[in-house]
Amino acid sequence: MENISQTEILINEVSESYPEKETLVKLLSLDGKEAADVLFKEAYAAKGKYVGKKVYFRGLIEFSNICEKNCYYCGIRRDNKQAHRYQMTEEEAVEAGLWAYESKYGSIVLQAGERTDRAHIDRVERIVQKLMEKSEGKLGITLSLGEQSKETYARWFKAGAKRYLLRIETSSKELYKQLHPPDHVFEERLRCLYDLKDLGYQSGTGVMIGLPGQTAAHLADDLLFFKEYNVDMIGMGPYLQHNQTPLATAFDDFETVKIRNFELTLKMIALARIMLKDVNIAATTAMQAIKPFGREAALLAGANVMMPNITEKKYRGDYKLYENKPCSDEDYDECASCLEGRIKAIGETVGYGEHGDPLHYFRRRG
Ligand code: 5AD
Ligand code: SF4
Ligand code: FES
Repeated sequence: MENISQTEILINEVSESYPEKETLVKLLSLDGKEAADVLFKEAYAAKGKYVGKKVYFRGLIEFSNICEKNCYYCGIRRDNKQAHRYQMTEEEAVEAGLWAYESKYGSIVLQAGERTDRAHIDRVERIVQKLMEKSEGKLGITLSLGEQSKETYARWFKAGAKRYLLRIETSSKELYKQLHPPDHVFEERLRCLYDLKDLGYQSGTGVMIGLPGQTAAHLADDLLFFKEYNVDMIGMGPYLQHNQTPLATAFDDFETVKIRNFELTLKMIALARIMLKDVNIAATTAMQAIKPFGREAALLAGANVMMPNITEKKYRGDYKLYENKPCSDEDYDECASCLEGRIKAIGETVGYGEHGDPLHYFRRRG
């Protein structure tokens, strides 16, 4: 009992003011199911109050797994010669986007490995333009295409993309250095995030949870970073090991670590909801890679967005950032109806035909 009222006091501090890092560390370190349940319950109440119990779908199109980068944790990093590389045609990408539009998904996310060459930049621009044209400007388009020049971001914005997701991965410069080769520069990532904001994008960021070397103090700083950046959208997921990466042997007993990462991700979602209130938070697929009902658990801890994978089955299996990625054998329509069922089962509804823009974006811009 003592423990629970103490938890409530700490949660109040997170919801009412700019919390101390120490408070966040204590909540992230909460032990035991009862105390964690208090946190999830409060977060769910905050979700109901600030964004409602409606889940917005973003159809996720993974249009290529070719990547110039070499992040130590990622299965499609440049040096993984075992990854089978693919690139959808423009027509395939447009077709997938229109399928989402016709299925009343309000919006899509175009994601791919990072590339900065002219052909890629032009191709993305054309895909966005075509989708805007064919949906009469009605389809919401989010890009998740990594670090680019401000000029490129501006071109894609002009073409019609109004949201961008770029995870900071970790807000600790030291940890960032340990997870990336020297040509990945933390300051450059920040530059991108602020350029996106400056151009008027609805801006999303996030981190991986449970990375080797990451502590509760790092995660507390990540939450404070979201607040400082004044984020509109958050995508956070548990770190998952991939065999063909340099970090494959970082943990001895990953089966145990993975469960801890899952629990910690739920706490991060709950704290982000309580602290940041009217932002959009994704229940990411990586949650379901650990537990069959992982995404539902994320919704019940405060998330309000889901990204049904609408990549064609023939490509899906190759977009493997981590192992055991769920839904690899299902086709896009199967996945969508499965997700709808999951949402209904917890008493929520899908916001069909709505963009589901982050309310925070409009509030911060006045
Ligand atoms: N485990 C979990 N998430 C990962 N990502 C990349 N590799 C992994 C992994 N091994 C995430 C990164 C990236 C997003 C597209 O996928 O956070 O930004
Ligand atoms: Fe490329 Fe992104 Fe994977 Fe890094 S995390 S290797 S940028 S796809
Ligand atoms: Fe993809 Fe169930 S969520 S098949």
